[in-house]
Amino acid sequence: MNDLEKLEQDLLQAVAASGSVASLEAVRVDALGKKSSISLLMKRLGGLSLEERKEKGPLYNKIKRRIEQAIESRKVALEMAELGAKLAAERVDVTLSARPEGEGRIHPISQALDEVLAIFGAMSFAVAEGPDIEDDFHNFTALNIPPEHPARQMHDTFYLPGERDGSQLVLRTHTSPVQVRTMQIQKPPLRIIAPGRTYRSDSDMTHTPMFHQVEGLVVDEHAHMGHLKGCVTEFCRAYFEIADLPLRFRPSFFPFTEPSAEVDIGCLRKDGELKIGGKGDSGDWLEIFGCGMVHPKVLEACSIDPHTYQGFAFGLGVERIAMLKYGIPDLRTFFEADLRWLRHYGFAALDIPSLGGGLSQ
Ligand code: PHE
Repeated sequence: MNDLEKLEQDLLQAVAASGSVASLEAVRVDALGKKSSISLLMKRLGGLSLEERKEKGPLYNKIKRRIEQAIESRKVALEMAELGAKLAAERVDVTLSARPEGEGRIHPISQALDEVLAIFGAMSFAVAEGPDIEDDFHNFTALNIPPEHPARQMHDTFYLPGERDGSQLVLRTHTSPVQVRTMQIQKPPLRIIAPGRTYRSDSDMTHTPMFHQVEGLVVDEHAHMGHLKGCVTEFCRAYFEIADLPLRFRPSFFPFTEPSAEVDIGCLRKDGELKIGGKGDSGDWLEIFGCGMVHPKVLEACSIDPHTYQGFAFGLGVERIAMLKYGIPDLRTFFEADLRWLRHYGFAALDIPSLGGGLSQ
């Protein structure tokens, strides 16, 4: 083997031995760079005879090209290997199960409210709202609630610290002030439903200091007790989805309605279980509504002439009807913000409130 062959073999070996693109680049500079042996030989060609140049020039060029080719193909191989190693190291395991996404649930109070509003919406009631913090006039005075009425007492109602003019604001004790607010700004005929939070200083198995009510108000020239009965009956049967749900209207008293009634629905209690419906007469009754004909004094307080207009109103407790329909035993659990409870009693977001069987049967 002559020197030239030895040089080529050494360089090809160095190319083959380089283990990375970076070390191959160092080999390339060494083998083909300006200071490399081949470049030196090429430079010296100028000092040789024509004969020798003709013989050695092509020879050097061939060696140079072979080494260039060897470097090029080694480079491709090394790049492929490096890419392969990178892909293997950064591989995503698509067979891993996905991280569970928390799915929200609709709170039973929201669900019950949606159902109630859907039913009254179908009876063409409009939704009205009022503030949670009320003044004495809207919560009591305009509703004909006298100063000595128990609802006005400190231990029943949450009063806010006194205003400068001596008046006191309250957390509304019922949704009835929305009746007053509506009648003050709209003239009859009126047909509204007012859902919202209400507050009383009460806390035990069956009472929480904050709870929800839905108020209904109809005022026109002809509304009478029969309409009230029909409306409440239709609602109860649609909401509980029991076409022949027994109802009972029991005389009662509210300062803002005259006459007043309490509405009971029929239920059966058996082996500690409560079943809505059944034969009211042979079973039990459950109170769910307060209602009556709007008191003339309330109409007057709202500048509506009681000789021309009359109306009826009703109020229902949302927690109560939600507990009854969805079988939730303890009122206080509604507001404990326990996710396990919500997962159990909550509703999927796509449960669209239906009008139930009561209306269509
Ligand atoms: N506001 C009454 C209550 O909270 C319910 C009611 C509303 C009664 C409308 C009659 C008419 O108990």
